[in-house]
Amino acid sequence: MKYKLSLPHFGNTAVVTERIMRGLLVCGGAFLLASISLTPSAEAFFELPSPWGYRCNNSTCVKEENSGVGGLVTLNKCKLTCGPYGVLWPQPTAAFIGNEVVEFLPTSITHKTTCVQQVCDLLEAALTIFKDNLQQYHPDYNFNSTAWKGPWNPATEAHTLQIDVTVKGEETRLTLDTLESYELSVITKSDITTATIIAPTYFGARHALETLSQLIEYEENRDSLMIVSDANVTDSPNFKYRGILLDTSRNFFDVKSIERTLDAMAANKLNTFHWHITDSHSFPLYLESLPNMAFYGAYTSRQIYYPADVRHLVEYGRVRGIRVLPEFDAPAHVGNGWQWGEMQGLGKLAVCVNKEPWQSYCVEPPCGQLNLANPKMYEVLGQIYNEIVELFSPIDLFHFGGDEVNLNCWNTTEEIVSWMTDNNFGLDEDAYYNQWNVFQNKSHQLLTSANSNKEVPGIMWTSHLTKKDHIDQFLSNNQYIIQIWTTGDDPHIAELLNKNYRLIFSNYDSWYLDCGFGAWVGDGNNWCSPYKGWQKVYDNSPHKIATNLTGSSHTDLILGGEAALWSEQVDETAVDSKLWPRGSALAERLWTNPSTNWEQAETRFVHHRQRMVKRGIMAEKIQPQWCHQNEGLCYL
Ligand SMILES: *[C@@H]1O[C@H](CO)[C@@H](O)[C@H](O)[C@H]1NC(C)=O
Ligand SMILES: *[C@@H]1O[C@H](CO)[C@@H](O)[C@H](O)[C@H]1NC(C)=O
Ligand SMILES: *[C@@H]1O[C@H](CO)[C@@H](O)[C@H](O)[C@H]1NC(C)=O
Ligand SMILES: *[C@@H]1O[C@H](CO)[C@@H](O)[C@H](O)[C@H]1NC(C)=O
Ligand SMILES: *[C@@H]1O[C@H](CO)[C@@H](O)[C@H](O)[C@H]1NC(C)=O
Ligand SMILES: *[C@@H]1O[C@H](CO)[C@@H](O)[C@H](O)[C@H]1NC(C)=O
Ligand SMILES: *[C@@H]1O[C@H](CO)[C@@H](O)[C@H](O)[C@H]1NC(C)=O
Repeated sequence: MKYKLSLPHFGNTAVVTERIMRGLLVCGGAFLLASISLTPSAEAFFELPSPWGYRCNNSTCVKEENSGVGGLVTLNKCKLTCGPYGVLWPQPTAAFIGNEVVEFLPTSITHKTTCVQQVCDLLEAALTIFKDNLQQYHPDYNFNSTAWKGPWNPATEAHTLQIDVTVKGEETRLTLDTLESYELSVITKSDITTATIIAPTYFGARHALETLSQLIEYEENRDSLMIVSDANVTDSPNFKYRGILLDTSRNFFDVKSIERTLDAMAANKLNTFHWHITDSHSFPLYLESLPNMAFYGAYTSRQIYYPADVRHLVEYGRVRGIRVLPEFDAPAHVGNGWQWGEMQGLGKLAVCVNKEPWQSYCVEPPCGQLNLANPKMYEVLGQIYNEIVELFSPIDLFHFGGDEVNLNCWNTTEEIVSWMTDNNFGLDEDAYYNQWNVFQNKSHQLLTSANSNKEVPGIMWTSHLTKKDHIDQFLSNNQYIIQIWTTGDDPHIAELLNKNYRLIFSNYDSWYLDCGFGAWVGDGNNWCSPYKGWQKVYDNSPHKIATNLTGSSHTDLILGGEAALWSEQVDETAVDSKLWPRGSALAERLWTNPSTNWEQAETRFVHHRQRMVKRGIMAEKIQPQWCHQNEGLCYL
């Protein structure tokens, strides 16, 4: 009998006879490397076991030379079963994970769902995704299942994974009130492993399937899957809003890369994809009622999101437990795409568009702000809202943007200055803030009427409007949720909490993932350097920030947080590595809100990163692979 021998460090394979094989197994590694002759072979063979194995000791996988003492297992088996949470990410509320695994094949999965029809339909889709994720654990995954070749034990081939899912609730859309909790138990009896999932909603059950997929790994010696034979998990998130922001205006991201982002979010139980869809740089959204916006505003005719793309992504997210939240930033951060007004007899819809020197009229090139003096601007804005609401329907939240208004832009635009003067509004700062507020109020009404008069909470970035001198008179805490983007020690946060505003944290000193690269206007580093490492992302705790600033953790007002990827220096080619695995660090902070810091999470984190890569996400490497194999030895 012949065997295929994999020698990873020599990049070759060898055919050896059974006699040599026995000799190799008896003798040590040095003999092994010195005595074999290499012959390429395409046949299917047993893999020779590695000279290395792993033992779980005190919740740590320890790499040892295989001296025949026994008890050593593969790295994946050790990782699955070692430590209180194995390699679950984000860490669940409570878990018991057994020491043993059973092997099975991805073709041997059956399932039963107990639910109302519309939930069962979603569960079928989630189970299909779940099975495909398992296929991807195979190192030779090639979008079909022909890669699995064995050698299997008869027991492996006979083993079945039976998944029973019970969902009571009927919800098929995520809201801030959706329960995302679940219970999962895994029990093995002879040749059947039963995974039982009980969840109040589809969204909880979907999370349970993610957890289940993390109790499963590839078995390298048998070319099969293995699952922890017995496990129980009880789990629910600490924060309702767990988001990733992607800016598709500074640079364009193709639909495939957004799908990948949603896939990775699902793998991390993140639930909100905040789509900062337009800005002053480009307007990549095609609107049926206003085709000129994309015609004038898209970078090229190929870099456009058509209605079908948006609907596809909204549905793609829903199935993966993710709300796709539109942001239409205004009245600043507009410009390109708005230039067609005069030609159509509507007057100037936006002012300061691409105006130079940009430093005088905005924070980064190119400039642009809506023209408050032009009533036609509101007609166009209303049409935009009508179409956005329809595309993202039904919305449960809407992001109005509302950041970085430059008063000098308005105050140096003749049309606006005359309008301010003619109406006796004045020209001082307060006069402009008042008119900005009138704009916001009108926008809110337009959005509500676009949404069939159903009011939804509006989200706004921290800005002059949200400061303590203004916010009470401008934005009601019933209608608005404020997204923090200043630093975690900003007293502004305390003011908002003391005035009972609901908050979403994206403090840039920890949760801006675009920081720390070279500058793009001038040399040196970009404005929010340094780079926010995963450790910093992980340790950023909204409750601790609130406690520090106000003496209370304000768990009721803090809805959650979001990592932002502003896209001046990234597009679809590098989006994975900028978002991941740092987005996973955010995910555990928001799901688990651990009292421990990144060090306790590192082992699971490194493995989770490997798992995302298997699932097609080009997540950045954070350590040499040696650290994955030698747990706990890469600390300073
Ligand atoms: C297990 O680890 C402990 C320290 O954590 C060590 O004292 C002990 O020798 C280890 N046992 C084995 C079998 O490696
Ligand atoms: C086991 O590991 C924990 C930390 O993971 C450590 O505090 C403890 O000292 C270890 N036990 C032994 C016997 O080394
Ligand atoms: C599936 O795998 C087989 C064998 O590797 C290959 O020939 C075939 O092209 C694959 N099909 C697809 C759709 O990738
Ligand atoms: C896991 O949960 C099942 C069902 O609730 C229970 O029967 C079993 O005892 C639990 N096992 C452990 C180890 O907690
Ligand atoms: C606007 O310009 C006028 C002078 O034309 C000046 O008095 C006023 O302070 C300016 N307002 C702001 C907010 O800068
Ligand atoms: C917005 O405008 C409406 C109608 O003019 C008014 O009733 C309401 O108080 C305004 N809201 C705010 C927050 O200013
Ligand atoms: C709490 O405040 C102190 C003093 O301003 C600061 O050094 C520390 O980093 C803050 N901690 C958090 C979690 O924000």
